[in-house]
Amino acid sequence: MTLTEIIDTFKMKFNPSKIMNSLEKTASFYDASDHGSAGNDSGEDLKNNPYSNSVINSAKSSSAVRISQNADEPFIKLTNVWKTYQMGEAEFAALKGINLEIYEGEFLVVLGPSGSGKSTLMNLIGCLDLPSKGAVFLDSEDISKLEESELARIRGQMIGFIFQSFNLIPTLNTQENVLLPMEFQEEDARIARKKADYLLEIVGLSDKKQNLPSQLSGGQRQRVAIARSLAVNPPIILADEPTGNLDTKTGNYILEFLDKLHEKEGKTIIIVTHDLEIVKHATRIVYLRDGEVEKIEKSKKNEQEE
Ligand SMILES: Nc1ncnc2c1ncn2[C@@H]1O[C@H](COP(=O)(O)OP(=O)(O)O)[C@@H](O)[C@H]1O
Ligand SMILES: [Mg+2]
Repeated sequence: MTLTEIIDTFKMKFNPSKIMNSLEKTASFYDASDHGSAGNDSGEDLKNNPYSNSVINSAKSSSAVRISQNADEPFIKLTNVWKTYQMGEAEFAALKGINLEIYEGEFLVVLGPSGSGKSTLMNLIGCLDLPSKGAVFLDSEDISKLEESELARIRGQMIGFIFQSFNLIPTLNTQENVLLPMEFQEEDARIARKKADYLLEIVGLSDKKQNLPSQLSGGQRQRVAIARSLAVNPPIILADEPTGNLDTKTGNYILEFLDKLHEKEGKTIIIVTHDLEIVKHATRIVYLRDGEVEKIEKSKKNEQEE
């Protein structure tokens, strides 16, 4: 398949809307003066930041842009959410009445044993799947009431996925993989390319643009996935075990990156992880067990802030 064919297949599958990503007009992106440890070695070209339509260079940690319509309302809300899978004759409930409210700017870590429903939960939060029962609200909108095309639009604009199952397209090279989400947003091709190059520079992969995923290490692939997840500058980042298969150095690097997105960009971050380093950065920790919320803890970090 050619790139165009693959993109067309995706476009059909996700049925993305033509509405431009209005978020980009208001949201800041990387502060060009502060990317030191984020993998850029040249230290030069980042001043030419294609995400800088508005706030960049003056964007400091306190000026994180709020997207949600109503700051007092949860950005994401799950009410009595059930997910049941049909297994032949039997039904299996992977989630059993989840109630969860997530506010904009939170750094939420989801912990739980294998099979407890973490990935199922992330799929629902990410509008990749709908609950069997109950409701999922994104910015006060009940997503289960939406058409698939509308859902795809919201997904495309609001959520960056760093999922192991949501993998890179093996026949596309590094740069093309990062360009893909922008294709869905009908981004101007020249600007899209600039953005892709900028993001690849941030994650330290400028010299790997032409490599296919099979020609990259695990850590490099994960960095491509991160660059791709940021392409449309979404306010919510969902990550399922983002450091699971990585060496400590790459893992720390990615953690630092997510931390910056949270602190400087005010992004809402939701991560499934067992990595205690990541857990340290959480504002709250949700413990899942057998498809139920066992407990929710405010983190030490959060207590200090209050
Ligand atoms: N498509 C599916 N069909 C049937 N069962 C599923 C499906 N997806 C997940 N499950 C089951 O739901 C439970 C929760 O899965 P998952 O959300 O992937 O757990 P976790 O990510 O916490 O390991 C598991 O018991 C799993 O076997
Ligand atoms: Mg999982």
